[in-house]
Amino acid sequence: MHHFVLLSFAASCVAAWSTFTVPHVDGQDDTPALTDVLAMGNYSTNATILFAKGTKYNIFTPIKFPTLTNVEVRIEGNISYPDDIASVQGIVGSSGFPGSWFTFTGGTNVTLRGSTDENWGWVDGHGQAWWDAVEQTNRPHGWAFSKITNGVIRDMKLWKPVAWNFATSGSSNIHTYNNRIVAVSDTDSFPFNTDGFSAGGTNLLFENNHIQNGDDCLTVGSGAKDIIFRNSYCEGGHGLSIGSLGKGGDVADVQNVLIENVVMKDSLYGARFKSWTGGNGLARNITWKNITFTNVMFPIYVTQNYWDQGIGAKPNSSSTNNTHIQDFLFENFAGTINDKPGYVEGSCVSDPCWYYVEGATGKEVVIFDLYPNTATNIVAKHMVATTETHSPVRAMCNSTTISSDVGFKCWDGLFIPTAKGLL
Ligand SMILES: *[C@@H]1O[C@H](CO)[C@@H](O)[C@H](O)[C@H]1NC(C)=O
Ligand SMILES: *[C@@H]1O[C@H](CO)[C@@H](O)[C@H](O)[C@H]1NC(C)=O
Ligand SMILES: *[C@@H]1O[C@H](CO)[C@@H](O)[C@H](O)[C@H]1NC(C)=O
Ligand SMILES: *[C@@H]1O[C@H](CO)[C@@H](O)[C@H](O)[C@H]1NC(C)=O
Ligand SMILES: *[C@@H]1O[C@H](CO)[C@@H](O)[C@H](O)[C@H]1NC(C)=O
Ligand SMILES: *[C@@H]1O[C@H](CO)[C@@H](O)[C@H](O)[C@H]1NC(C)=O
Ligand SMILES: *[C@@H]1O[C@H](CO)[C@@H](O)[C@H](O)[C@H]1NC(C)=O
Ligand SMILES: *[C@@H]1O[C@H](CO)[C@@H](O)[C@H](O)[C@H]1NC(C)=O
Ligand SMILES: *[C@@H]1O[C@H](CO)[C@@H](O)[C@H](O)[C@H]1NC(C)=O
Repeated sequence: MHHFVLLSFAASCVAAWSTFTVPHVDGQDDTPALTDVLAMGNYSTNATILFAKGTKYNIFTPIKFPTLTNVEVRIEGNISYPDDIASVQGIVGSSGFPGSWFTFTGGTNVTLRGSTDENWGWVDGHGQAWWDAVEQTNRPHGWAFSKITNGVIRDMKLWKPVAWNFATSGSSNIHTYNNRIVAVSDTDSFPFNTDGFSAGGTNLLFENNHIQNGDDCLTVGSGAKDIIFRNSYCEGGHGLSIGSLGKGGDVADVQNVLIENVVMKDSLYGARFKSWTGGNGLARNITWKNITFTNVMFPIYVTQNYWDQGIGAKPNSSSTNNTHIQDFLFENFAGTINDKPGYVEGSCVSDPCWYYVEGATGKEVVIFDLYPNTATNIVAKHMVATTETHSPVRAMCNSTTISSDVGFKCWDGLFIPTAKGLL
């Protein structure tokens, strides 16, 4: 009886389902054919929107999806952005630009799915030309997966994106897995601002993603809650980051983040937290666990005193407020610190660099730059690190800013675990 009910339900689903195979015309923009049918109200419910394998699509203008219900967007063909910078800039700079080249505006049960075929399903942003020209005006974001309830992003493959990649702002119950981002420059130029995943929203699970880029691998923004990022690989970028929070006095709220089983290679940072001087709000219950790092300059870097060094000197904050930190744990970190003499990371374009830390030697496995009396229960334990020059590993921590045991001797000196750090 039960079996019969299931079968008839499945049959009614099949009957209601429709598939739109996006047509392609050589040399032309393939976006209008899709956006026209969406504008007629078709294929926004119970549908598959298919970019077919074997086709090389031209997405020369942005795609903005309407609210979708039970829709799968499948990218089995290759997709190309315009390859000339000026036409993209013209669109990004125009008033109608939706914010990203691909914008989801809301809905329920939405899947964005790429392909596991190595030769197909790539989205080519032609970023190399932008990086080579150090062109940073009117750059498009990639994929805004916004305001979706119950969503999946899987098997997507991004090739040389211009800049920022996936963002999930305002979404909930999202599973993001098996995605690849290849923002790797073939020249000496740097792939600026090619952030991997920007986690906004609640109940988000990211796993088995492979990211090679030139900015945050993961960035968790204010409002994010119940986030897991695990079993992934990050290369070349700026770390597993929370923030920046509290800019211009903003009230930040980040809760329940677990980042675990991640390999960090050739990165500027491993785990990173930053909140602006003079901010408000709270970041609590954030764990980075089982992080392996190779050739990383700052394996753990926490600052509650962030400011934009590119803009000027550190402000003389008279604010007694700051974004508070509570229950931060860094556990099982192992790897090598990049302390090569004279090494300068590719995103550094000023002197001092935007990432310069006064008093740091480059041999610190952990830096806690805390604001007095606003951090509680922040601990780093089970740290196993070596420097590439084989000099002793150090720490930075100011004991007048925190009274509890942080898992190592809180000073600017050698890294010496306390009992709590070995527990
Ligand atoms: C979509 O499919 C569901 C489940 O099969 C069905 O209940 C609903 O009526 C369909 N909606 C439309 C607009 O066809
Ligand atoms: C779109 O929907 C309209 C009305 O429901 C229908 O007449 C038309 O054939 C559909 N177009 C496509 C391309 O599916
Ligand atoms: C959600 O969408 C998928 C296709 O992406 C579909 O197979 C499934 O039936 C939908 N689930 C519900 C509950 O409608
Ligand atoms: C699809 O795009 C990727 C990335 O640009 C490229 O390496 C691959 O060769 C393309 N596939 C085909 C069949 O052209
Ligand atoms: C400091 O925090 C208090 C209490 O939350 C708030 O009322 C006040 O507006 C904050 N001040 C600034 C400058 O943000
Ligand atoms: C802390 O966050 C983790 C990961 O999201 C969650 O599983 C756990 O329940 C949270 N603990 C508390 C006390 O909120
Ligand atoms: C630690 O992470 C690695 C992947 O980086 C994984 O292979 C290993 O199983 C993890 N260890 C534990 C104890 O979870
Ligand atoms: C901060 O104060 C110091 C000493 O009073 C002063 O030299 C410096 O210029 C001030 N910085 C700013 C950004 O106002
Ligand atoms: C330590 O922190 C206190 C309080 O913020 C500050 O006054 C002092 O200058 C700091 N010391 C160092 C060495 O940074």
